[in-house]
Amino acid sequence: MYTANREYIRRFGPARLVEHWLNAGTFILLVITGLAQKFHDYDISQWIIMSFGGIDTTRLVHRYSGIALTILTVQHILVASFGILFRKWQPSMVIHMKDFRDAIDNIRYYLGLSDEPARCDRYDYKQKFEYWGVVVGGMLMAATGLALWFPTVVTQVLPGQFIPAAKALHTNEALLAFLVIVTWHVYNAIFSPEVLPLDTVIFTGKISQERMIHEHPLEYERMFGVTLPRHHGKDEEPSEASAAPGHGSTPSP
Ligand code: HEM
Repeated sequence: MYTANREYIRRFGPARLVEHWLNAGTFILLVITGLAQKFHDYDISQWIIMSFGGIDTTRLVHRYSGIALTILTVQHILVASFGILFRKWQPSMVIHMKDFRDAIDNIRYYLGLSDEPARCDRYDYKQKFEYWGVVVGGMLMAATGLALWFPTVVTQVLPGQFIPAAKALHTNEALLAFLVIVTWHVYNAIFSPEVLPLDTVIFTGKISQERMIHEHPLEYERMFGVTLPRHHGKDEEPSEASAAPGHGSTPSP
């Protein structure tokens, strides 16, 4: 999966890139068609609803993109579970105590109390936070969305109060997800000084060696069998500890 060319390192295969953009596309459609219904009094919402051809088609587009997001979420969970259980993928999104220590280390570094940032692995604690937000949020949106779609089926097994509760959860979680994505995710992908003007990894699947060393030093060390100098700046070169590039690299989801 990984390439031995150190200038650019393959971080994501084509399946991960396609999955990301399918998720992004359905999420954008759901946010537009959902929030236009929630805030229907606003001119922009009226314009969106009319652009979709009226409220009926807007609701239809929302429901069918909801089905798409549900399928994407379920397939992701199944593929990741299969890969981890049967293909020896590293469960690289699991949250460990080290992630909490990394967060504290970085706060100390940004405050000037320490001179080395956290040394992160394939995914850092911020990426894990976003990932679990999307997976758990996706499951919640699917469950509550289906309850709003089929209230008579749901109330055969659950009390009637579940439907207004599902609506409150669905609509508020929608707003939360939208705000997190536009502030946090878009900042990290476009405006963060590390990547400005654009983080191209999710288009090309490749990351520069410089960023890899800076942002994922532990994965870099494992991948190439090298030991990076501590307190390294962005420009420092790794020292060879082993001549076997790719050593210890196990594919991750
Ligand atoms: C991240 C994904 C989603 C977002 C951001 C989102 C957002 C919203 C919002 C803001 C509303 C309006 C609620 C209100 O009127 O206050 C809504 C309604 C609704 N959503 Fe979603 N939603 C998402 C996913 C889903 C999914 C996965 C489904 C179904 C599988 C779904 C089905 C529905 C239904 C049935 C309604 C009620 C409106 C109608 O009758 O069409 N949504 N959604």
